[in-house]
Amino acid sequence: MKISIIGTGYVGLSTGVGLAKRGNRVICFDIARDVVEKINRKEPIFYEPLISEMLTDVVSKGLLKATMDLDFAVINSDVSFLSVPTPSKIDGSIDTSYIRGASVSLGKALKKKGYHVVVVKSTVLPETTENIVLPALEKFSGKKCGKDFGLCVNPEFLREGSALSDFLKPDRIIIGEFDKKSGDVLESLYKGFNCPIIRTSIKTAEMIKYASNAFLATKISFSNEMGNLCKRMGIDAYEVMRGVGLDKRISPHFLNAGIGFGGSCFPKDLNAIISKARNLGETPIIIESVMKTNYNQPLRIIELLKSKMDLKGKKISVLGLAFKADTDDIREAPSIKIIGKLIEEGAIVSAYDPKAIKRFREKYPQINYTKNPRECLKDSDACLILTDWEEFKNLNERDFNTMRNRIIIEGRKVLNPKNVSKFEGVCW
Ligand code: UGA
Repeated sequence: MKISIIGTGYVGLSTGVGLAKRGNRVICFDIARDVVEKINRKEPIFYEPLISEMLTDVVSKGLLKATMDLDFAVINSDVSFLSVPTPSKIDGSIDTSYIRGASVSLGKALKKKGYHVVVVKSTVLPETTENIVLPALEKFSGKKCGKDFGLCVNPEFLREGSALSDFLKPDRIIIGEFDKKSGDVLESLYKGFNCPIIRTSIKTAEMIKYASNAFLATKISFSNEMGNLCKRMGIDAYEVMRGVGLDKRISPHFLNAGIGFGGSCFPKDLNAIISKARNLGETPIIIESVMKTNYNQPLRIIELLKSKMDLKGKKISVLGLAFKADTDDIREAPSIKIIGKLIEEGAIVSAYDPKAIKRFREKYPQINYTKNPRECLKDSDACLILTDWEEFKNLNERDFNTMRNRIIIEGRKVLNPKNVSKFEGVCW
């Protein structure tokens, strides 16, 4: 099938590359010239496992190209995925200006086209597609939804760090459809995927995405709350959750306690659904508590460190800046709050991350960045591990022996006790 992707950020590019890999012809549209040029040069715009090899493969085979010409992208495709950002506003609600703007432009492009299906991939609150996207498409195309063009919502469940394998092996595919014909077109695109496909209404599909993220985040905050209790009683929260997660009704996933969740999705989506609930006169007690627990969780590692030393003038080495492993993304990363607090307490911070230093340096030019963990650890008074990078799993006694003072605290469970002695975790 011929596909266009409107907005080639993280989700757009991962989706485009995944669809091209399955043999579809994909045109990625973006307003940013550097993004378009980089993609055509087979250079990914972010770090993500597999993206480099897969992008090179599909561009070389002529299955994917990028353009700044929206009409060209739409005219040469049958289905357009809208994957523009939906950032948070100050009050937590979502900023729909990009989705509105893209729908207007897409509407104008649809004028010049026969039947075409528009698929909303961006994470949008229930009613956004029907109240914002649909009217803009109809108004600016002069066409009728369900007759002249189709409309679906198809939420993404891609995790940064495993986006392409998540795309190619999904647990489920959700198709929210305006009408049967739109849903049939989209379902045919996903032919051959070995997972349940749920066909539902547009609003329901929008809500499935928020309910999924809210539940996953709830599991994490719950585990952190249990973990904080465990720490006080000298219990390893991971051993507890291994015992808990084997119950099929619970599942072992997303029960890892630590320094809380970050990233561009959970905090933004939970705030958005809280804001929507309040507008509807509901009090989302659980989700608000999940956010509250998460707000405080990164600072637990500082409290633990402060119980062992006064931080003023001390050299603290920080291993890991990205919000999770296998990404260079630092949006809402717990490291931001933790390093901010270390600086506030007068500590001298030295940091290392395999991929995220460039992005972090733009935010915190005042701290010292090192080329490897050893250099970071040298002469430090304490070490905090904040991201579960594979590389840190191989750290051993020799790497830590250069520290001035042996205090090692993990915010993510990563060190191998067979390789390293004398360390502790924030919840273990
Ligand atoms: C999340 C969802 O997992 C995806 O399904 C969804 O598509 C995506 O948001 C989105 O809405 O676009 P992502 O934020 O990329 O994906 O990464 P996760 O693996 O979910 O991790 C989020 C945060 O939770 C990270 O900071 C991670 O370290 C933390 N986490 C995760 C924990 O603290 N404990 C866990 O057990 C799992």
